[in-house]
Amino acid sequence: MTATDSTGNLTHSILVLHGPNLNLLGQREPTVYGATTLADINQMLEQEGRSLRVKVTAFQSNHEGALVDAIHAAFGQHQGIVINPGAYTHTSVAIRDAIAGVAIPTVEVHLSNVYKREAFRHHSYIAPVAVGQISGFGSESYRLGLLALVHYLRQQNPM
Ligand code: DQA
Repeated sequence: MTATDSTGNLTHSILVLHGPNLNLLGQREPTVYGATTLADINQMLEQEGRSLRVKVTAFQSNHEGALVDAIHAAFGQHQGIVINPGAYTHTSVAIRDAIAGVAIPTVEVHLSNVYKREAFRHHSYIAPVAVGQISGFGSESYRLGLLALVHYLRQQNPM
């Protein structure tokens, strides 16, 4: 299913997924993740979506299965996914398989530069099934991820 913009034109619909502990943004390790809250990020993405003329829908869960379900439910509803899988980046074969299974173009984003941090954060199960990855720009990583994804989708399938 595709969405329409305010002028009735067809547009892409993008699902933004936030993994575990990202609901705590703003209070969680602010020296690593910054002071921006998840609500601020979602609001910024909706605004960015309006200027890009795409529909943005955001969902956060602390549960791996709920994220897998959301990815399955995206099939036929959303043309692209921006995901910050949080700690599941480094552990979840299930989320990786869900993305591969629905074959929806996906961009992986991280607030922190995971490659500057502990070694266990250097491996991503998601990266091999993603179009690309953006890491280290704080909340700007999400905006850049959305921009990159929309650019990619428009190259693949101009609407
Ligand atoms: C994170 C990086 C992960 O290693 C960590 O577990 C998170 C957040 C980031 O956005 O920088 O929860 O995905």
